[in-house]
Amino acid sequence: MAIFFHWSEADIDLWRDALAAENIDLELRPLESLGSAADVEFAIVWAPPDGSLKTMENLKYIFSIGAGVTHITLDPDYPSNVPIVRLQDRLLVEDMSCHIIHWVLHYHRYYARYRQYQNERKWLRHRYPENSARRVSILGLGQTGQDACRRLQSLGFSVTGWARSQKEIEGVRCLAGQETFDTVVREADILVNLLPLTAETAEILNASVFDRMPKGGFIINCARGSSVDDSALLAALDSGQIEAAALDVFREEPLPDDDPYWSHPAVSVTPHAAAPTNERSAAEFIAAQIRTCLDGGQPAPIVDLARGY
Ligand code: NAP
Ligand code: GLV
Repeated sequence: MAIFFHWSEADIDLWRDALAAENIDLELRPLESLGSAADVEFAIVWAPPDGSLKTMENLKYIFSIGAGVTHITLDPDYPSNVPIVRLQDRLLVEDMSCHIIHWVLHYHRYYARYRQYQNERKWLRHRYPENSARRVSILGLGQTGQDACRRLQSLGFSVTGWARSQKEIEGVRCLAGQETFDTVVREADILVNLLPLTAETAEILNASVFDRMPKGGFIINCARGSSVDDSALLAALDSGQIEAAALDVFREEPLPDDDPYWSHPAVSVTPHAAAPTNERSAAEFIAAQIRTCLDGGQPAPIVDLARGY
């Protein structure tokens, strides 16, 4: 038995140590030394080359080195009969919340204006609303969304969270389902996307959403780039309907040189850096899941491919 391993940024010894700590004596094999692939039972991957997973006919589980799984499922040949286990990690959740808090505070307090004032050597203090008067809507109430809601609520913001199913989070208005989406959007001074990319969420941030948001609203997208209609966002930014956007994820990554987002004055680009996988904790989590499989148990959480996440 062997494990197929693919992550271009990995320190493979760290993964071997994590497996050894769980008494797992399986060979970790990168693509170049895969051989026949018939003895590969597990795959641990981030963005494996298209078609590579399909060659492993005895694969039992695919472990995603990330919370999202589109880096696996967008391969037109990926084996959809093999369950995918996604990453759950407290450190990833914490990093995501810090990224979101950074941008919420940046927009809420209009810090970009101070940069401009500094350029002009202008000593000028501007006004901003009380935290409780700033309405932040979070799309997605999974591991990242729930934590971001709690932390923003504890800073005093007026937080609404939206998911497919009803949630209860103390101090946070939780709404669920398509029928409440209009309210979520209309009452979002700052709209944060933490939805997985699925058939239902592709381009969910579109012209209709930007038009319905209060004028001068802000967008923070740190889930997946294809959840945004890029031309519609650029038009909304140009018209001032949306004041600014912090974008961490893009339809094409790395963001191409000629992409208009790079130079747009109202756009802040970060290179998919909101919540990078922490290699040590990810390795520990996945090694523990493989231990469960070897002991005859079921790993978790398994992606529901019918829902798409
Ligand atoms: P998760 O735990 O699977 O949570 C997903 C949430 O989205 C759930 O609350 C789910 O509702 C909701 N949802 C899904 N489809 C919906 C729909 N059609 N309508 C309403 N709600 C819907 O996901 P997560 O771990 O928080 O991660 C979210 C995404 O963040 C990932 O898929 C990934 O794309 C992205 N991500 C990005 C980075 C980065 O560095 N930029 C890092 C990690 C993750 P229910 O609860 O009702 O099922
Ligand atoms: C990063 O994008 C992840 O899905 O963990």
